[in-house]
This record gives sequence, structure tokens and C-alpha cells, in this order.
Amino acid sequence: MKLRLLIALTAVLLLTAACAISATRRPAWAPSVMVASADSHATRAGLETLRNGGNAADAAVAVAFALGVTEGYSSGIGGGCFVVLHMADGRAAAIDGREVAPERASRLMFVPRKTSDRTDLSLYSPLAAGVPGEVAALELLSREFGNLPFAEALAPAVALADTGFPIHEYYAGVINSYATRLGSDPGSRAVYFNDDGKPRAKGDYLVQRDLALTLRLLQQDGAQSFYSGETADRIVSFMQSNGGVISAKDLAAYAPVQLEPVRGTYRGFDILSMPLPSSGGIHLIQLLNLLEDYPLGYLGAGSSESLHLIAEAMTLTFADRAEFLGDPAFTVVPVEALIHKAYADTLRKKISRASHLSNPAPGAPWEFLSGIEHHTTHFCVVDAEGNAVSLTATVNTPFATGITIPGTGILLNNEMDDFVTEPGKANFFGLVGKAANEIEPGKKPLSSMSPTIVLKDGNPYLLAGGAGGPRIITATLLAILNALDFGMDIQEAVDSPRIHAQWMPDRLFMEPDHVFDVQQQLAARGQTVDIGPAKSRVQAIMADSVRGGWTGAADSRGIGAAIGF
Ligand code: DON
Repeated sequence: MKLRLLIALTAVLLLTAACAISATRRPAWAPSVMVASADSHATRAGLETLRNGGNAADAAVAVAFALGVTEGYSSGIGGGCFVVLHMADGRAAAIDGREVAPERASRLMFVPRKTSDRTDLSLYSPLAAGVPGEVAALELLSREFGNLPFAEALAPAVALADTGFPIHEYYAGVINSYATRLGSDPGSRAVYFNDDGKPRAKGDYLVQRDLALTLRLLQQDGAQSFYSGETADRIVSFMQSNGGVISAKDLAAYAPVQLEPVRGTYRGFDILSMPLPSSGGIHLIQLLNLLEDYPLGYLGAGSSESLHLIAEAMTLTFADRAEFLGDPAFTVVPVEALIHKAYADTLRKKISRASHLSNPAPGAPWEFLSGIEHHTTHFCVVDAEGNAVSLTATVNTPFATGITIPGTGILLNNEMDDFVTEPGKANFFGLVGKAANEIEPGKKPLSSMSPTIVLKDGNPYLLAGGAGGPRIITATLLAILNALDFGMDIQEAVDSPRIHAQWMPDRLFMEPDHVFDVQQQLAARGQTVDIGPAKSRVQAIMADSVRGGWTGAADSRGIGAAIGF
């Protein structure tokens, strides 16, 4: 009798858990190619490029430039990006297009000197901008890995900027939320406000002629126009008359970097992700290493047991982030230790199944090293040859500085806020850090962007990444766990309710769709549960092992589209 009751209760619990994740659409399926991005215009720009003979790298260039036009509040040529790719010929690479601190930046540049000084300069002023890297990174991607001329991959973005597109309700909402800031900057006002002085609304056409001009210069003269040509001149003269410090020398010195992806394994899959200056790939692999030891699939998606273990792993990982990570050109980071399985074994000992560990001290990767051998946007593209690109681009917060450089259509990033701008001060995302991530000229602010490719038997199996500051790392992790451990299709894997922990503040952020009993169970283990929206967006593509071809998903929390053919 007791047993039957137990079985019935378990069935009810399982059903409730399943209900929480079943309210999702079906993933897109296509036999040959797939593009999943946060905006349907950009997705179509990628498909058009693939139809015209471009490969996944060309399509990625097209999607990235198009996103800068149709989703400019998230990313654009005034910002930066990270790319992880795996080509069918076996080449794998990461491209670092991260913004760099200008030569005249300094460690305490954002610390107020007197009480009347502004405290938000690292977010909403020309000083908030790092030297933009997206354009240079995309040109490198096109040159090294593409089939088409750079100018051709730019064509859809030029057309979108020139002829405009109707503003989606979602976009109108974003403009409205940031209307005060956009309205007070003459450059942004000209783009995002109508002639009657009102913010542009749903259905209005957003035509961006200045941006089209800047993109055309890129078509004609390549990235050089941006870093030392006409556009560079416009950026520099804007900086000089508006209190910014980006100089002609800073722009001319910008160079995108081709790197080896950071690599790990998880339950027989190979993981390729973004190395430093992103913390994303390292921590994603560290998280997967920590979790590999638990039978997550058996414990079940959304159960208090599995969520607790995942949350504890997140907390431990972010404690290490604050302590050890920063631009490797300036700080020695114990990367090999952090991604080593044996280091995960030592860290895992701190995890109790019964209770939450508040604000744990960082781990001890240095000791360990001696013992071993030694508003952002994400999209994914796969093509018919099996080339795969996972790319995350950003200007940092929504509409970033809110400043558009007149005559260029360039919305200035506020990536300087990703540094530790003041000792002990949390950044926009609540992240704290230490010396490793303090401002120095020429240094890159530590990022969490995690464009990732999971390989099965050496071939791309799952591509994922996201937007959401530190939540990128945990949202990308959950998409991978949902697909690999919990057997979800890729749309469910992206849509199902998320949790997030980042060491400080000592909170477990949970989306409201989690089963109520589970929220209580986690609180009983000592978690300070904080219910709220995910504040992250993921796009992903996964191979269809049954039918062949690809399944794709744009996060249902947003307005993107996954489409293939
Ligand atoms: O590089 C980073 O980690 C941040 N600048 C990303 C910002 C972001 O994801 C904003 N999105 N919602």
C-alpha cells in the first residue's frame, strides 16, 4: 500500500515537473542548413547568404552585421563579439573581437573624487566605451574561413539599414524603456525618435542612413575604413568634443585575435568554447566537470535534487571567477587547472546534497596546477558541408551608453563597465572581481560570453550560447544539460525554466515556472531563493539523431527565429 502511494506520488511529482517544461513550441527542423538568431530579419540574412553560395562563416558575418541593424540595442559595429567555429575540414578556432581599454584609461578612472561626481560614467558616457572590435573580428572570420567577398556578406545589413524595417512591438518596448537616455543624446535621438519628438513606435519604419553609409564604407574599403579611415575620423572627433578618450592610435592599434578554443569533455561529448578574455568557456567546462559526477538524467530536470547540485556548482565556479579571471595579457590565470577534471574532483567535495554553502572561498587552482601535466546576442549557423559557427556579440547593456556617434550610426558600447571599476563595487550585472580584472590601458574587460560548440565523434552536435551577462554561462550550461542529460529537444532545452547563481550575491535566482515544491525544497537546503525573470536569452542548434539534419531554437523568451532549409 505504502509503495503504491509512493509510486502515485512520484508520478504526480514527475508530471508536475514535466508540465513545467512542456509549454514550449516544437523546434525548427531542416535537412541541410540552419540559422538560429535573436531576430528573424537577421536569420533571413544568414539564409540568403547560404543560398548565394556562402558557407557558415559568411552567413555568420551576414547575421552579425544584420543584428547590428535590426537589434541594435544588443550588438553592433560599435561593440564587440566572440566567435567559436568548427569547420568541416577539421579546423577549429575562436576569434576574439572584444573591446579594449583605450590608452588613456586608468584603474581608478571611474572612482568619484567628490560627492558631486557622477557614479555612472562606466555605463552612460563616452568614457564607458572600449575600442570596438566587432568589425575587425568579422573581417577576420570572413577572410580566414569564408567563401564570399566580405562586401557580399555585408549586403543584407546594408539593405536593412537603407530601406529600414517595421519596428517590432518588442523593439518598441525597448526604445520606450530607454527613451530618456536615447532622447537626451542628439545622435540617438535622430535614430530612435520620430520628427514629432516621440520615440519610434511599433510598426514605424526604422531607416538608418548613417549606419548604411558606414556599412557601405566597410563594403568598399574593408575594416580599414573603420579603424583608420573615414569612420575612424568621425569616431575620434566625436570623442574629442564629448569627453571620450578613444584616439586614432587606439583605433589603428586594434587587432582581432585568432585563438584556440578552450576544450573540455562531458559524458563522451567534446566541448569547444570561448577562451579568455571570456570567462564563459572556462567556467562552462568547469561546471560540466563538476556536474559530470552526478546522475542528473536520473535525478530529473527541474527536481530539487538536480537544481540544488547545479546551483552549488554555479556558486563555486563564480567564486573562482571573481578571484582568478582577467585578461591573460595582464594577469596569469590558472586556466589548465580550472578546466581540469581532477580540480573539479577537489572542488566537488565542498558540495553537500543536503545544504547550500553560502559564499564559499575560491578554490585553490594554483596548488593544483603543480600536480597536472600540463544586452548581447547569440546566434548559431550550420551549413551543408558541416561547418559550424557559434557567435556572441554585444554592446553590453541594452542600448549601451545610449550614445550614437553622429554621421556614423554607431551606437557606442559600455564594455568598460565589465571591468572592476572601483574596488569592491559590483558591476551592472552584480559581478564583483579583484585585481585580475581592474582597468589598465590596452586590457580587455573580462567577459562571460560563451559561444560553444559540442562535438560528438568529432562533428558538430550542439551549438549554443546566449545573452545575459553572467547568466550567459549558466543559461548555456542549462541548455546543454537539458539536451544531453534530460533528453529534451532543443526548443525545450532552451525554453525550460532556468536557475542562476553567481556566488555574490548569495542568491538562487529562479524563474517562476519552477514547481513550487521545488522552490521550497531548495530554500530548505539554505538557498535564498529569488523568483524572477531569466534575464538571459539562448539560441541553439542540435543535430537530429533520428531524422538526420538539424533542429534549431530561438529562445521563446525573445522574438528570434530558427529557420533552415
Ligand atoms: O561580455 C559580457 O559578459 C557582457 N558585456 C555581456 C552583456 C550581456 O550579455 C547583456 N545582455 N543581456
